[in-house]
Amino acid sequence: MINTKMQDALNAQLNREFYSAYLYLSMAAYFESVNLKGFANWMEVQRQEELVHSLRFYHYIIDRGGKALLGAIDGPPTQWTSPLRVFQAAYAHEQKVTAHINDLVSLAIKENDHATHNFLQWFVSEQVEEEASADGVVKKLTLMADAPGGLFMLDQELAQRVFTPPPAAGGAGPQA
Ligand code: FEO
Repeated sequence: MINTKMQDALNAQLNREFYSAYLYLSMAAYFESVNLKGFANWMEVQRQEELVHSLRFYHYIIDRGGKALLGAIDGPPTQWTSPLRVFQAAYAHEQKVTAHINDLVSLAIKENDHATHNFLQWFVSEQVEEEASADGVVKKLTLMADAPGGLFMLDQELAQRVFTPPPAAGGAGPQA
């Protein structure tokens, strides 16, 4: 059974993952509003991934005999000044998420909670990808700053991203 301190910390992260989904949906809406459908698609896929992250926490808390608590989700920003600003914000957001995951790992170690430590390892790996993925688009947008047609080409590229549902997640496993 999970202890209260760990349960509260995991519930806070459950909420943050829902916020991430909300944030990326808001970014998708921004891109739809400026008719960059490929960028919007990238954000929509990201939104789906964040919901998977949320549900991993949700089911894990329950599997450990805890109670999943759903709190209010803050409203995300709704306006940015350029595609680059959006992806810089996404990258900064993922860095914050990584810091929270690291704090959770530290707490699991402090609480001698090996199961939660193991569960969190999937997220440790996932955050490497999450940061690299957002930063990769930041770098492309920065490089193409003065290239006519670059935005159109990147929009085409980002339109190719598809959501791949992971296998059902019970505890954790980097294979998912
Ligand atoms: Fe759930 Fe983007 O990390």
